[in-house]
Amino acid sequence: MSWIFKWVQRSGLASLKMGSSSLILMAVIACFSICNLVLYGLATESPKYEVVHLESDYEIRVYGEVPWISALVHGTSFDKSTREGFHRIYQYIHGANLNSSQFPMTSPVLTSVIRSSSETVYYVKLFLSKGNPPQPSPELNLQLEKWSAQCMAVRKFSGFAEDDNVKKEMEALVASLIARPTANKALDANVSYTIAQYNSSRHLSGRLNEVWIDVSGFNVEGCLPQHR
Ligand SMILES: *[C@@H]1O[C@H](CO)[C@@H](O)[C@H](O)[C@H]1NC(C)=O
Ligand SMILES: *[C@@H]1O[C@H](CO)[C@@H](O)[C@H](O)[C@H]1NC(C)=O
Ligand SMILES: *[C@@H]1O[C@H](CO)[C@@H](O)[C@H](O)[C@H]1NC(C)=O
Repeated sequence: MSWIFKWVQRSGLASLKMGSSSLILMAVIACFSICNLVLYGLATESPKYEVVHLESDYEIRVYGEVPWISALVHGTSFDKSTREGFHRIYQYIHGANLNSSQFPMTSPVLTSVIRSSSETVYYVKLFLSKGNPPQPSPELNLQLEKWSAQCMAVRKFSGFAEDDNVKKEMEALVASLIARPTANKALDANVSYTIAQYNSSRHLSGRLNEVWIDVSGFNVEGCLPQHR
């Protein structure tokens, strides 16, 4: 498979230099169906965290400082938005940045679903394992961001993360959080949430996904004030 990867990588980089949007599009489509399968299956680095509270069906984690590359997508569905955002991030890690730097694929791929009264937007994010990441090429419309310490409630689920099941998993996590005696009842089913996908689409079984809810602002046991 390595020749496919080399071909796609080379054509991807060449097309970016030529600045031709149709070539970029071709390379991206080829990349998404081929490179994704080749690369995303390899052992990957993930952001570090500490588990501060453990229950049978969820846990509370504290993530430290994590640098992400983030793609805002005004999409209509979780599936489509994740694909679109990942296309752009894929180009960034393969050299479409101001230093032409290459980054290793990491996991998980995050899709944050942010809901307001007027619309739902999606932020697709990938952890950058190398320090001091360069600015993305402007046409990709990506943002570099860095978390300070974040407190996350996390529920795992298997299979494929899709429009059909992500909301159900989020609601199950909310129900678990609310059921606790000391829970802050302000947590309702309209909360914004993040889906973390750890495996490439090539893996049909043994898949790991998680739904994350930011509980930094809530009175969740195990999340100490200094973590907020
Ligand atoms: C970009 O490359 C230059 C020259 O190699 C280097 O000095 C600089 O630190 C790099 N910047 C980033 C953000 O990687
Ligand atoms: C959730 O959102 C819907 C639609 O925006 C709204 O009607 C409902 O009141 C919200 N529920 C809560 C508990 O805030
Ligand atoms: C999916 O990713 C998780 C976390 O990296 C890993 O433990 C698991 O083995 C992967 N599943 C497959 C089928 O590769």
